[in-house]
Amino acid sequence: MKISRKKFLTFLGSIPVLGALGMLYMRLAEPDWYEVTEKDIEIGRFASPLRILHLSDFHASESVSLASIEKAIDLSLELKAEVAFLTGDFITWQLTEESEYKRILQKLSSQVPTFACIGNHDGGKWAATSHGYSDFSKVRALLKESGIRLLFNETAKLDLKGKHFSLVGLGDYWSGDTKPSGVLFPTRSADEAVIVLSHNPDSKEGLKPYDWDLMCCGHTHGGQLVVPLLGLRPFLPVVEKSFPEGLLTWGKRHIHITRGIGNLHGMRFNCRPEISILNVT
Ligand SMILES: [Fe+2]
Repeated sequence: MKISRKKFLTFLGSIPVLGALGMLYMRLAEPDWYEVTEKDIEIGRFASPLRILHLSDFHASESVSLASIEKAIDLSLELKAEVAFLTGDFITWQLTEESEYKRILQKLSSQVPTFACIGNHDGGKWAATSHGYSDFSKVRALLKESGIRLLFNETAKLDLKGKHFSLVGLGDYWSGDTKPSGVLFPTRSADEAVIVLSHNPDSKEGLKPYDWDLMCCGHTHGGQLVVPLLGLRPFLPVVEKSFPEGLLTWGKRHIHITRGIGNLHGMRFNCRPEISILNVT
């Protein structure tokens, strides 16, 4: 194929325009262009599917408005889940507009039993090294007052229309708060599903000695910026880079990483925010 000099110069001249359009798309279009995904997971514990809503990484901040989070929750409520799991990073650094945030979270918890684990941005040793809180007491209070049960190295025994399972929420991995002993066991005590909420999927290595079926994670944001065609994700904040998002079968267990609702720095590219539904049998 021969390209004329004029066409080549025209192409070069268009690069700044394409760059500007790309930047507008990254900042204004993709960050709240939610994708609803639905996956079936067979763990052999439920006679009929347990329909789970899995959301993560709201990152309320100057970059992610509460209106955007409310839009995600409104869309989520249309999906008629039986239970909702929120896997951390409710804020980026500071909690503001608490009463409005509570109102939005209550829309979810008032219709769907909602459980959460804490993320590295919510407060703790890691957050304190940057612009965050040294503990997650503010986020804990936000969740409690919003009707959401936070599980911090704790177990909830649930029975949803005859579907019995143990739900274990772990502390954040980067904050050094992931403490599975006492809440997870090498052999489960009852013949029922064990589902784990853990913000950072890198925590899985420390959970190998324990008996569980499904772990729900966030943290990666899917990489947030994905290079088209090449699929490169240069900003993945995990050691295990071969598994940035989606459903992984890990031995006899399953791990689900959702790309999350919010973002850092107000941009996403080729990596839309995700509302996940998991149908678990
Ligand atoms: Fe996050």
